[in-house]
Amino acid sequence: MRVLGIETSCDETGVALFDTRLPAGEGLLADALYSQVAMHAEYGGVVPELASRDHTRKLLPLIDQVLGEAGLEKRDLDGIAYTAGPGLVGALMVGASTAHGMAWALGVPVLGVHHMEGHLLAPMLEENAPAFPFVALLVSGGHTQLVEVAGLGRYRLLGESVDDAAGEAFDKAAKMLGLAYPGGPRVAKLAEQGDPTRFRFPRPMTDRPGLDFSFSGLKTHTLTTLKKLEADGVLDDQARADVARAFEEAVVDTMVIKCRRALDETGLKRLVMAGGVSANTRLRERLAVEIEKRGAKTFYPRARFCTDNGAMIAYVGAQRLATGERDTRGLMQATPRWP
Ligand code: KG4
Ligand code: ZN
Repeated sequence: MRVLGIETSCDETGVALFDTRLPAGEGLLADALYSQVAMHAEYGGVVPELASRDHTRKLLPLIDQVLGEAGLEKRDLDGIAYTAGPGLVGALMVGASTAHGMAWALGVPVLGVHHMEGHLLAPMLEENAPAFPFVALLVSGGHTQLVEVAGLGRYRLLGESVDDAAGEAFDKAAKMLGLAYPGGPRVAKLAEQGDPTRFRFPRPMTDRPGLDFSFSGLKTHTLTTLKKLEADGVLDDQARADVARAFEEAVVDTMVIKCRRALDETGLKRLVMAGGVSANTRLRERLAVEIEKRGAKTFYPRARFCTDNGAMIAYVGAQRLATGERDTRGLMQATPRWP
């Protein structure tokens, strides 16, 4: 099946075309992304109504763009997939209604997919895609989860954050450090200049068994450290970089410990990383070394498919549409909270 995928759950408009008939790693025909990040940066975070309006402006031109790049017409499509949740409801509805309108006009099947399933299976878009089963570390702005993946749709949650998601913690730490939104990449950049030995932040929930995470304590720790440096009159650029480094090391270390544990508990030898935070270079380096020491292998999507994109939605939608799955009673779906 040749499927159009649409992603509009938050602040990126993503569109892509995936063809299930092509060999693994070659199915992606075209993809395009329009990021609203610059618009929201002015407000320090995503403004939902502005996000919805921008999706309505950018979505149709992006669809025309990917069809053009692939040398296809709308009538060449065999199905349409869109992100049905979780996400901002207005933003989701732009993608959902566009997908349903197009599918109805073209007489092709349509399916809403789970945004996190998109992230989870994004490494399948690569030439060296992992075989099932594997353990996945899903780390985005809204989620931190370890999942055992047996096959398409066969997922078992091994552990998750009991409070903030890893990306959320990065974004909040960024605000405390006076860095602009989105903070994750900026904290990572500042941390490169930091001295890893100056501060040592706690590794939350690693001293007890289990695969759950907690990042809110680390956030408080960051704030207390910065306040103390300020009170002592030594909060300069180097101190900020050292704090960023200590914060990043603590998050990365915690994730490495939990991933090792997840592989031990499941006996699996493949670890997949996905979601925005998996773009973090330090996390990738540390995980690759630690996981390979155990005779296991790590897999990542290419950097541009770590954060929100249409390709992952086209991929999951195509797989599911090809098995005959359709939206229930042909109704459009926009589910802001979807476990
Ligand atoms: O998956 P994603 O694009 O959107 C969600 O579905 O949430 O993830 C965005 C999150 C943000 O919190 C962002 O700060 C974080 O991923 N992020 C990073 C890096 N790049 C993006 N965090 C740490 N280091 C990075 N290099
Ligand atoms: Zn996402």
